[in-house]
Amino acid sequence: MNKPTVVSGIRPTGYLHLGNYFGAVRNFVRMQENFNCFFFIADIHSLTTHPTPGDLQSGVKQVLAEYLACGIDPEKATIFIQSDVPEVCELYAFLNMNAYLGELERTTSFKDKARLQPDNVNAGLLTYPVLMASDIIIHKANFVPVGKDQEQNLEMARKFAKRFNRMYRKEVFPIPQPYTFDGKDMIKVPGLDGSGKMGKSEGNAINLFDDPKDIRKKVMRAVSDSGPTEMNQKKPEAIQNLFSLMEIVSTSDTVTHFNDLYNKCYVRYGDLKKQLAEDIIAYTAPIRDRIINILEDDTYLAKVAKMGAEKAKESALETLNEVKNLIGFKKLF
Ligand code: ADP
Ligand code: TRP
Repeated sequence: MNKPTVVSGIRPTGYLHLGNYFGAVRNFVRMQENFNCFFFIADIHSLTTHPTPGDLQSGVKQVLAEYLACGIDPEKATIFIQSDVPEVCELYAFLNMNAYLGELERTTSFKDKARLQPDNVNAGLLTYPVLMASDIIIHKANFVPVGKDQEQNLEMARKFAKRFNRMYRKEVFPIPQPYTFDGKDMIKVPGLDGSGKMGKSEGNAINLFDDPKDIRKKVMRAVSDSGPTEMNQKKPEAIQNLFSLMEIVSTSDTVTHFNDLYNKCYVRYGDLKKQLAEDIIAYTAPIRDRIINILEDDTYLAKVAKMGAEKAKESALETLNEVKNLIGFKKLF
């Protein structure tokens, strides 16, 4: 039987952080064993913020090296750079004809970005979910491993896939489902600033590439408070965030230990943060070493990108030809 297909990507706008890792990349690594996987670097998407050519190039190289360092295996999964498979832009153009201004304007990611960059509310930002849908459905993906913040974009992809199928009366596209490896809800890794999610633009992230010294510094500076004053008190958001991070990187014994101390009002956040920092470092240090090594090997990186582009192009072209046929583009001469 054919393996189900998986597609996911990340924009090359900086170093990958713990949110990217636990929300997405760790699932990529696990899924490559049993699924037909396409993992890409969303460099076209990243143009919405107008990177310089130099930044774009170094960002792509960084994410490619980070994917590999995290354990994505180019022999098992197809790893490619989005712009190496421009067929996706053709499908994007077709899908745009059936994507409506109202629904695009209503997406929270568009509203957030429009608020963050009021001087650059471009059409690419508005139609971001359409390009993302094309990325997914051009390989007929069944599953998409992403973090909680991508839930709405994925919902749009489902909508566009269904709309196309309905319009052309054929189940061309499977309806892509969100995927979390453990069957739990999509994950949101909190930041270190006491509220919200960890994110590149939030300035609250721990990167896989950070050295242990930086990680200790960032964690020790994380927002906390003066400590609980009543037994079994509900945790305020900043404290809950530290515990949530601990649940992700530490052993359950460690979490239980600090929870007990918290509930008895004995907790010392300095100790908790020290432990949290060491547990994060244990996770990231080996990955960081591998990133450094891989970044030095341009020949290997080029080989991986080329191999991935070829495989992804073949799959994309197959769908695109089917789509063009359905739409009614016929060769007249
Ligand atoms: P950022 O928000 O830092 O720009 P991206 O939007 O590029 O990160 O996200 C890339 C992938 O990582 C997506 O699948 C996204 O859902 C996931 N991700 C990003 N931040 C988090 C987070 N804090 N928790 C869980 N997943 C996250
Ligand atoms: N929007 C995603 C993000 O910001 C990146 C992305 C682009 C993506 N195309 C995709 C993720 C297709 C999954 C599938 O993280």
